[in-house]
Amino acid sequence: MSVDLASITPEESAASAVRTRTPITRTILMCKPEFFTVVYRINPWMDPALPTDTSLAVAQWQTLYDTYVGLGFDVQLIDPIDGLPDMVYAANGGFVIDGIAYGANFTYPQRQPEGPAYMDWFGANGFDVRDPAEINEGEGDFLLVGNVILAGTGFRSASNSHEEVSGIFNRPVITLKLVNPSFYHLDTAIAVLDDSTIAYLPSAFDEPSLAILRERYPGAIIVTEEDAAILGLNSYSDGYNVVIAARAKDFERQLRERGYNPIGVDLSELLLGGGGVKCCTLELRR
Ligand code: ARG
Repeated sequence: MSVDLASITPEESAASAVRTRTPITRTILMCKPEFFTVVYRINPWMDPALPTDTSLAVAQWQTLYDTYVGLGFDVQLIDPIDGLPDMVYAANGGFVIDGIAYGANFTYPQRQPEGPAYMDWFGANGFDVRDPAEINEGEGDFLLVGNVILAGTGFRSASNSHEEVSGIFNRPVITLKLVNPSFYHLDTAIAVLDDSTIAYLPSAFDEPSLAILRERYPGAIIVTEEDAAILGLNSYSDGYNVVIAARAKDFERQLRERGYNPIGVDLSELLLGGGGVKCCTLELRR
């Protein structure tokens, strides 16, 4: 699956270190969008006046599911619940490391019942569930990069949830402030590509946060506004294969140049709810 080093010319060999990528098989949780629709507006992408097509949403989601299965991932499923149209965005259901599942405590009342639903699933599947005291939207705002937790705030997760997370997971937590309402969750503004590499949209962050990102990740991929505007950053990587929005063409090019294998998937219907590939994907780390 990694790049074949034997095919690399001497001219290319200097860059070979960055071109060798190792996929790590993932275990993830997903939720089929059987009840997906847009009936309220809690982010700028959502417009209840626009029609949605639930069967198209299911078909597009199925392609994402099949892509993950094709990559060898262990894909677990949680049953969708009628009346919780955003439950398809499984990333918001919690944050899971070392078999510990920190539950979600949603900002808006429309999504609040999802918190206990996901916690019930974690409990029934052998995870050590931690009931959150603070407002947080799970892996939408918490991203693990190597041993460091990047934590978003500004629109959804409260900054005191960052302290709660640092107490639970015993890892450094770095607070990043989001400033553009279109990129309201951290996973719409940062993509984690492997243990030390990220891609991000600079304009989504305030200056102090941007300074932190520049210092920690000098080799990061900087995506275009155009790609970010279709939630191109909302992608999911196994360290080599990166599942991205099919329309994020410049991001695709940059990934290929760095030796990753971008795989485009069209989730246009789920974009009407303000979510993409990563939003539909919650990583389960034992
Ligand atoms: N409609 C959902 C909301 O606004 C979309 C969530 C997208 N999820 C994500 N991880 N970015 O809450």
